[in-house]
Amino acid sequence: MSGAPRRQYTNPVIRWIEYRLPIFSTVEATIGADMPTPKNLNYWWSFGGLLTLALVIQIVTGIVLAMHYIAHGSMAFDSVEHIMRNVNSGWLIRYVHANGASLFFLAVYVHIARGMYYGSYKYPREILWMLGVVIFLIMMATAFMGYVLPWGQMSFWAATVITNLFSAIPVIGEEITTWLWGGFSVDSPTLTRFYSLHYLLPFAIFGVTILHIWALHVHGPNNPTGIDVKGPQDTIPYKPYYTSKYLSVFSAFMMVLAVLVFFEPNYLGHPDNYKPADPLQTPAHIVPEWYFLPFYAILRAIPDKLLGVIAMFGSILVWFILPWLDTSRVRSGRYRPLFKQFFWLLVIDFLVLMWCGAQPAEGPALIVARIATAYYFLHFIVILPLVGWFERPKPLPESISTSVLGSGAAAPKAAE
Ligand code: HEM
Repeated sequence: MSGAPRRQYTNPVIRWIEYRLPIFSTVEATIGADMPTPKNLNYWWSFGGLLTLALVIQIVTGIVLAMHYIAHGSMAFDSVEHIMRNVNSGWLIRYVHANGASLFFLAVYVHIARGMYYGSYKYPREILWMLGVVIFLIMMATAFMGYVLPWGQMSFWAATVITNLFSAIPVIGEEITTWLWGGFSVDSPTLTRFYSLHYLLPFAIFGVTILHIWALHVHGPNNPTGIDVKGPQDTIPYKPYYTSKYLSVFSAFMMVLAVLVFFEPNYLGHPDNYKPADPLQTPAHIVPEWYFLPFYAILRAIPDKLLGVIAMFGSILVWFILPWLDTSRVRSGRYRPLFKQFFWLLVIDFLVLMWCGAQPAEGPALIVARIATAYYFLHFIVILPLVGWFERPKPLPESISTSVLGSGAAAPKAAE
């Protein structure tokens, strides 16, 4: 890389730094805010920015919590109570962190669904999509380990159920589980390693997010038509048009977070987690946080433990090959009448699985979970490839501009 500055800056301090370390121009060139952006991005394209904000909120509140939290089996629960009662604004920081995690997942589900609907995973954005799947997997690991830290009943038993899954691996399963636990059951050593990883992984998410945004900027974002940008007439500057759109979405997010934190801070939590962990008393009904429920339902829908674990991980890993499972050459669901219906069926299926995950794994709920699990895999492995082959897409507009302005309005009017 040449040492010459790529751009002249007016600010003398920035110019001084840039001459010695061209960091500003490099960042701008890679994830620059002045890139021409398709002019038709709707509000669903604000969720990536929102996720970045959510990640920063989690890291900042998490670092403050870590100043007061004690990762030891005999003190963790009390240290959280200490945060809630004695630390200045400790309750606020903890509630923002806990509810922030929920909203982070809500936003990521919307972000993923947007990508699926508009075919954002298709050529040439496959790596961008796959990096997203990696982020999602790390997010799940981070949230799971974070939930264990308060060392309440649900923390302890969730850790026990999930770590036990590894014992289903043939031959080495038991060894791996003992190694994960750092002993012969979930105990203080398990807590300390989860704490260490819970602190580390958000930075891994941050790192992969940089790659994610870098990949985004190589070909630019997709857009609701799925048609490539054909020239400057199809774009507007990112700043201030989309930055201002972001601001309204950020405000809405902060308002929802505030309502949760100030009015219903424990609505999304489980009351059993306000009881200290007790290895001798299994709760009647062990349930994970709401955002894990669909995957938990898939795990329990399958009678065999190993197959259940494979199905649960498989339900996310299948996203990696989504760009190749979808055989349609049309990107956006807007022009794919059949795909659109199956997309919404998948959303309903996911919500049904979420409901099933919250029920005891027996009776009608178990049967529904089995059907919904089968449909989930059917969608990706059978329906998507077939729909791509057999569907007759609607005619595509000529360009982004004609889709925005209509064919009659494509030619600019004479000045009035
Ligand atoms: C911490 C989590 C994440 C952050 C901070 C993040 C950030 C972003 C940002 C800033 C954008 C551009 C704005 C937008 O299109 O909304 C974006 C686009 C995208 N993201 Fe993510 N993302 C995250 C997770 C994910 C996940 C889990 C997936 C998929 C499994 C994913 C898939 C995509 C795709 C396909 C695009 C391109 C969208 C398009 O141009 O149509 N992202 N992401």
